[in-house]
Amino acid sequence: MKYEFPVTRTEHPKTKPDPDKLRFGVDFTDHMFIMDYEEDRGWYDPRIVPYGPFSIDPAAAVLHYAQESFEGLKAYKSAEGKVLLFRPDMNIKRMNRTAERLCLPVIDEALFIEAVKALVALEKDWIPDKEGTSLYIRPFVIATEPFLGVRPARQYKFMIILSPVGPYYEGGLAPTKIYVEDTYVRATPGGTGEAKCGGNYAASLKAQVDAAEKGFEQILWLDGVERRYVEEIGTSNAFFVIEDEVVTAPLEGTILPGVTRDSVIEVLRKKGMKVSERRLSVDELFGAAKEGKLKEMFASGTAAVISPVGEIRYKDEDIVINGGGIGPVAQELYDTLYGIQTGKVADTEGWMIEVE
Ligand code: COI
Repeated sequence: MKYEFPVTRTEHPKTKPDPDKLRFGVDFTDHMFIMDYEEDRGWYDPRIVPYGPFSIDPAAAVLHYAQESFEGLKAYKSAEGKVLLFRPDMNIKRMNRTAERLCLPVIDEALFIEAVKALVALEKDWIPDKEGTSLYIRPFVIATEPFLGVRPARQYKFMIILSPVGPYYEGGLAPTKIYVEDTYVRATPGGTGEAKCGGNYAASLKAQVDAAEKGFEQILWLDGVERRYVEEIGTSNAFFVIEDEVVTAPLEGTILPGVTRDSVIEVLRKKGMKVSERRLSVDELFGAAKEGKLKEMFASGTAAVISPVGEIRYKDEDIVINGGGIGPVAQELYDTLYGIQTGKVADTEGWMIEVE
């Protein structure tokens, strides 16, 4: 089915940011997508309108009980000028799984993809094409019903906004310093760790701020039960190269099923590397580092892409990884994934979806 979304064009197009100075998530394009939901009507009135503030009742459920979800994906421009999306089907599938967990209404997969395409096509002049840049796409659902009782809301909005971005970390591919968090936890079994909802991120801020005060860019989360097993790095999935094995935490309910995580596993396995989705204790990690077996550590995510870790602290012990530089596995993954995304490396998996 072909969707048609009415477009109201802005009368005040903005000046685009300098492509050499793009940061993550500070600039927004001229238009946004919006659609409403009422319990007895379902989703209705999908449309593209000028980007800008909109009104919401102060009693809207999202403002009090955080009933919401969000996604993150990117659009790229190839050297030939093609506009490409990376695996948007994975985002809507995950968004609908989050919806199930947060009692949000699901969205038709085809409508989601057509809405992303329509908005990105309209804003294609905003897609930066310098190395390391892209157009970040942020779809989200919020509960708008004005009601202070605690139950699933009966009114929602689904919106998509776009932001031309540079690297998530200011240092780009420069390795980060990571603090192993042993006071706070990100997720527990039965909680919302595998859902992409704002509450998970709000609850992570305190640990991030404390780590920053100690001079670390991010935290490595441990499991919420035994505080022994490594889980995620900040807002990203975590990978560890121990001798010839690449290890990442298994998807058992507390880990966000990252689209980049899945792509990293696929790319590494296709290259013939051993990838294990298994529990890795912080003792094993530090033990491997002391024996010289920990070759690399990196974070993967839509925003962070592949972000190497150069140093890590647990309690009062520090280890430097790969001499504090980017390792060959992380570098090759970055080159392969960003290469596929920008059309420079063959897309053998059929991951890229062309807009228009
Ligand atoms: C992403 O990688 O897209 C994320 O959602 C992380 C984000 C919270 C910046």
